Amino acid sequence: MSHPLAPGWLVAPRNANALHSGIWPASMRRGSSGELEVGGVSVGELAERYGTPLFVFDQDDLVSRARLVKDALTAACSRHGVSGAVYYASKSFISGHVVSWVEDAGLGFDVATAGEMAIALGGGANPDHIEFQGNNKSEDEIAQAMSAGVATIVIDAPIEAERIQAIASSMDTRQKVMIRVNTGVHADTHDYLATAREDQKFGLSPAEALSLVQVIRDSSHLDFVGLHSHIGSQIFSTEGFLEAATRMVDVYAKAFAEGEPFTLNLGGGFGIAYTESDEPMDVAELITAIVDYVAAECAQRGLPIPDVAFEPGRVISGPAGVTLYTVGVTKPVTVHEGDNVATRLYVSVDGGMSDNARPALYGAHYSARIASRQSQVAPELVRVVGKHCESGDIVVDAEYLPGDVAPGDILAVAATGAYCHSLASNYNVVGRPPVVAVSGGSSTLMVAGETLDDVLARDQGLSRGQE
Ligand SMILES: Cc1ncc(COP(=O)(O)O)c(C=O)c1O
Repeated sequence: MSHPLAPGWLVAPRNANALHSGIWPASMRRGSSGELEVGGVSVGELAERYGTPLFVFDQDDLVSRARLVKDALTAACSRHGVSGAVYYASKSFISGHVVSWVEDAGLGFDVATAGEMAIALGGGANPDHIEFQGNNKSEDEIAQAMSAGVATIVIDAPIEAERIQAIASSMDTRQKVMIRVNTGVHADTHDYLATAREDQKFGLSPAEALSLVQVIRDSSHLDFVGLHSHIGSQIFSTEGFLEAATRMVDVYAKAFAEGEPFTLNLGGGFGIAYTESDEPMDVAELITAIVDYVAAECAQRGLPIPDVAFEPGRVISGPAGVTLYTVGVTKPVTVHEGDNVATRLYVSVDGGMSDNARPALYGAHYSARIASRQSQVAPELVRVVGKHCESGDIVVDAEYLPGDVAPGDILAVAATGAYCHSLASNYNVVGRPPVVAVSGGSSTLMVAGETLDDVLARDQGLSRGQE
């Protein structure tokens, strides 16, 4: 029976040790001792070697997800005689190792800052496979991108076209550019994740984009190569993507009438499962459906089918990652709701909103399991919380775990590969956790954790006490 404080979508499990498929990394399983292992490495060994909190990526899972997206797009585009390109959204998670895996899988990179660009280039990405976007790129960032030979810059405002033109002219070069279009599609996701509503900062309206296309075509140092749209992130329904595709083909039709065919980059945003109740579309089917739809829309209007690009992040990096935490405190909290009284078990772990801001930012839900052992004790409703000074410092808002969950247990939280490490902070002066990759029974440190000394080193006033 469900707990009175459990949200409607959370079903009390028969076995709170079981791993629901589609949420956890492909190689995650319970070993014979009951302990979880991932990439053939036990969580105990990982925690012992690197400490907790710890981000762990199943390398093979991430790579096969990248390949799946790339293969689906290549197959869909080749049926229509056009090309497809996938740019991995670095903002979801980037590190030198990830760059080499993703590059080897044949994807390019979407970078949004000089920092992401530096990791992509430092990790060995071909500059010709990098597109640079963002709503406020500095002149320095633009110049760095152009010096590095970054393939495309996605323009977000007319003033940016002027800046890129001026920098290209001073470098005596030409720069390929796209224009980000705000299609006005209201993606069915959290408000902060919807990026194509009218009243927000990204892109240009179709009419503004069309006038800018003309300015760029007339310019001496810019080459117009395509239109870009990204309607938001963690989207489950197909309708938003198809509606955006229709509106992009409308703009394509008008811009094409005055020039050559060009690429339509339809962004990322494919949703993933964080809990058992999430039912995302199969990403290969979704990509195929969108490409077929674009082809049909173009055929209907007598237009040549454009090359198509996507830039997904979460669907590649998200489910391949988990976070390991150690339980420090457990505390039953009595909750009065009207005449009803119920108890929720709070489980405090050694990280929190500093390594996963998404629950606090978006009210995001996650799933957890005791990772260091299994237990036959009946499941109890728990809220996994962090160690930070906010009541919104929640890691997993609602989950059933074996009722004997106790200090010292290692917990694994699923699908933390995207937008967790990349959004991490030093709140309450904690160091950001390390990130490791596991594969074939061994682990590799990808990003070192910050020690307290690393964090304190930034504070220029600390030596004063010792003077
Ligand atoms: C412009 C752009 N492209 C791609 C993405 C990747 O989205 P997702 O990780 O949901 O696929 C984002 C995410 O915010 C974005 O802003």
